[in-house]
Amino acid sequence: MASQLSPTLLFLALLLIIRSSEAKDFLVGGNTEAWKIPSSKSETLNRWAEATRFQVGDSLVWKYDGEKDSVLEVTRKDYLSCNTSSPIAEHKDGNTVVRLPQSGPYYFISGAEGACEKGEKLIVIVMSERHRRFGGISPAPSPVEYDGPAMAPVSGGQKSAVGIKGGLVGALSLMGLVGMIL
Ligand SMILES: *[C@@H]1O[C@H](CO)[C@@H](O)[C@H](O)[C@H]1NC(C)=O
Repeated sequence: MASQLSPTLLFLALLLIIRSSEAKDFLVGGNTEAWKIPSSKSETLNRWAEATRFQVGDSLVWKYDGEKDSVLEVTRKDYLSCNTSSPIAEHKDGNTVVRLPQSGPYYFISGAEGACEKGEKLIVIVMSERHRRFGGISPAPSPVEYDGPAMAPVSGGQKSAVGIKGGLVGALSLMGLVGMIL
């Protein structure tokens, strides 16, 4: 058994674990021109968001012309109706950074007149803490746990209990790995 697990592999596994818990900055849409009315239905920012794995502590970065556009963080209701009148937060500096401090859905729409209606909007769903552990190794979370932006946030108590359990299991399996090699 020991001969099958080289120290290099262990090192790589460790690196993966460490890397997966680093906070990341995500440039919205993947480029500096992305915060705009999408040119086609298949090119929406939500397509990009669905293919991206956001974790607690990560940040979103928007680049745009602050004279013409803005980023509004809104409620689900205001997202769906493109209501720009009472955002949770408004950013119009052209270089907006929003940290994602907890798991769950975040809703953003453009503050430019008529832009949200034409598709300049974004839903980001942040994975809960338990998905963060060994994020680089474990398979993607089952769709059952995230049935869309409407899901209720996991309560704090539940979350930390799962987090501690996950951490313990992780530590134990790591010790097992080390034990096998030594
Ligand atoms: C937008 O939201 C505001 C505040 O919640 C509300 O008063 C207003 O009626 C809404 N406008 C539309 C068009 O739904």
